[in-house]
Amino acid sequence: DADVFKYYSENEWKVSSSGKSVSIINPTTRKTQYKVQACTQEEVNKVMESAKSAQKIWAKTPLWKRAELLHKAAAILKEHKAPIAECLVKEVAKPAKDAVTEVVRSGDLVSYCAEEGVRILGEGKFLVSDSFPGNDRTKYCLASKIPLGVILAIPPFNYPVNLAVSKIAPALIAGNSLVLKPPTQGAVAALHMVHCFHLAGFPKGLISCVTGKGSEIGDFLTMHPGVNCISFTGGDTGIAISKKAGMIPLQMELGGKDACIVLEDADLDLVAGNIIKGGFSYSGQRCTAVKVVLIMESVADTLVEKVKAKVAKLTVGPPEDNCDITPVVSESSANFIEGLVMDAKQKGATFCQEYRREGNLIWPLLLDNVRPDMRIAWEEPFGPVLPVIRINSVEEGIHHCNASNFGLQGSIFTRDINKAMLISDAMETGTVQINSAPARGPDHFPFQGLRDSGIGSQGITNSINMMTKIKSTVINLP
Ligand code: G3H
Repeated sequence: DADVFKYYSENEWKVSSSGKSVSIINPTTRKTQYKVQACTQEEVNKVMESAKSAQKIWAKTPLWKRAELLHKAAAILKEHKAPIAECLVKEVAKPAKDAVTEVVRSGDLVSYCAEEGVRILGEGKFLVSDSFPGNDRTKYCLASKIPLGVILAIPPFNYPVNLAVSKIAPALIAGNSLVLKPPTQGAVAALHMVHCFHLAGFPKGLISCVTGKGSEIGDFLTMHPGVNCISFTGGDTGIAISKKAGMIPLQMELGGKDACIVLEDADLDLVAGNIIKGGFSYSGQRCTAVKVVLIMESVADTLVEKVKAKVAKLTVGPPEDNCDITPVVSESSANFIEGLVMDAKQKGATFCQEYRREGNLIWPLLLDNVRPDMRIAWEEPFGPVLPVIRINSVEEGIHHCNASNFGLQGSIFTRDINKAMLISDAMETGTVQINSAPARGPDHFPFQGLRDSGIGSQGITNSINMMTKIKSTVINLP
């Protein structure tokens, strides 16, 4: 079938021997938009083999040359922002403007990573032995960072390009090879991005991209003996992967239920703006979206009114028209969101807008007076539905935040920096934002989650370090 996008192995675009394909459904039209190859386990084996041998040579390629190639890939990626963004619009219904931003941000990330890599990998450590009791100065230790080998990167549908390059670039600069398994929704955008790396001229077999059904090749990839590290972003699948993976380093960024705690002295206009941006951008399909608002009762009425006024101004429709709210990624996702909404309705939440859905398109919805017995108080809708819980003390807010099985980010709005610092210390999340909505970027900031939100820390510097190992050589003097 000539319409099926090829997968990438040994620097060639190939048709799978399976003869099968996987369809990508456009979330807006709910019709098949693209098809990708359904790769076989033998094809995965082949990719692993070439990744292993390519890595050996790549690790010996001078660091500055690796950086040069990454800078080249970054420039090509930015040049091709339009066609890649178009795929994002069609595959994951990302608003057109945001889709372009994702690609540009990705190019910047790759360049920054190349620069950061030459700095942090360009230096090692020198230690002498006589600082430890009982030793003379007869041992010199030289420690430097070496690559891990083959990195398996599995990004999610919501940033198929950006969360792929945030794994690819650190892996490559550190001297690893890379096998990419893109999400099905977003696979074609990812293949286009890989093509930019292809054009930059990386050595044969260093980067591969296999597409296919998770049920056929998912476990096979994550449990493959040729994989030396897995970097995964997504949902519950990550928990399953971490149980099945072998004795290799794992970098996991899973869900979040980021709370926004609003104190009585907060600038309520600032809060309302951040709730809109944090809760509804890309229709709430971000792990760092504001997913529950915890407001002090005394300011709740005023804030809810301000947010309601802003929700009324959000545009709803197709991503091609740059609407604020676009269809969620799949019908099953829309059904799940609807289930949370119906549960809240049955249990007496206040609907600030009428619930409305057409296909995968769900109108933005603010639910006031949500109580802890409602599913929406704890579960992640990954859609444009935001619960408000009214609290009578800051402690109540902190308690709700810490009782969550997630611990990605959180935010506090107050004019009192001392209070903000104390609350930040008490919140058990990977990051706390003071007076702003949660966000991963700038992309060199550390990014991590506690509990079910993840393993390890990301951000450019942390990812480079995570994808390396320390190697020591000790010189023993006579
Ligand atoms: O969906 C998870 C992403 O890591 C969030 O990134 O804060 O830039 O939207 P973002």
